[in-house]
Amino acid sequence: MAYIENVRMRDIPQMVVVQDACFHEKTPQIFEKELASTAIKYWCAKEDDEVVGYICISIIEDEAELHSIAVHPAHQNKGIGQQLLTHALHFAQKNNAKKMFLEVCEDNVIAQRLYKANGFLQKYTRKDYYGTKDAYILEKTFV
Ligand SMILES: CC(C)(COP(=O)(O)OP(=O)(O)OC[C@H]1O[C@@H](n2cnc3c(N)ncnc32)[C@H](O)[C@@H]1OP(=O)(O)O)[C@@H](O)C(=O)NCCC(=O)NCCS
Repeated sequence: MAYIENVRMRDIPQMVVVQDACFHEKTPQIFEKELASTAIKYWCAKEDDEVVGYICISIIEDEAELHSIAVHPAHQNKGIGQQLLTHALHFAQKNNAKKMFLEVCEDNVIAQRLYKANGFLQKYTRKDYYGTKDAYILEKTFV
């Protein structure tokens, strides 16, 4: 069973492994910079002290943004993405966010299912945001 923790600097090498198995976004240096920032909040999911997933959000005034979520392919479809998202949503709500938004590629149907199951609705489309593919902007309003 995975458990959620605040990310520490020493978790970065394992987070890079998770990231590289999912997509290529950030160097270890970018992770370090973000972790040092008070504007960005990171949590990881661990199993037996090993990072198997992570999520990253920011909150500006009353608006939260989900920047990144990833679960290592060897651990996907076991509820860990849901655990991470639930944690981030609770944190955002407790910290007075009124909504959370995110961007997702039009062809990432698995992530879209996760978001829509959690009450995110499609607000608009950014044409060709990912090269030839569109980005959908999804938003969840907290009641
Ligand atoms: C998106 C991602 C984080 C989901 O994490 P996960 O741990 O596999 O997700 P969960 O096991 O918690 O499943 C949550 C929901 O996601 C969807 N889902 C997950 N795996 C799926 C699969 N293989 N096929 C279809 N739907 C799937 C389902 O809706 C599922 O809910 P359900 O089981 O009630 O149907 C993971 O697939 C991932 O890391 N993908 C690569 C990185 C990425 O695309 N990040 C998002 C960028 S916007």
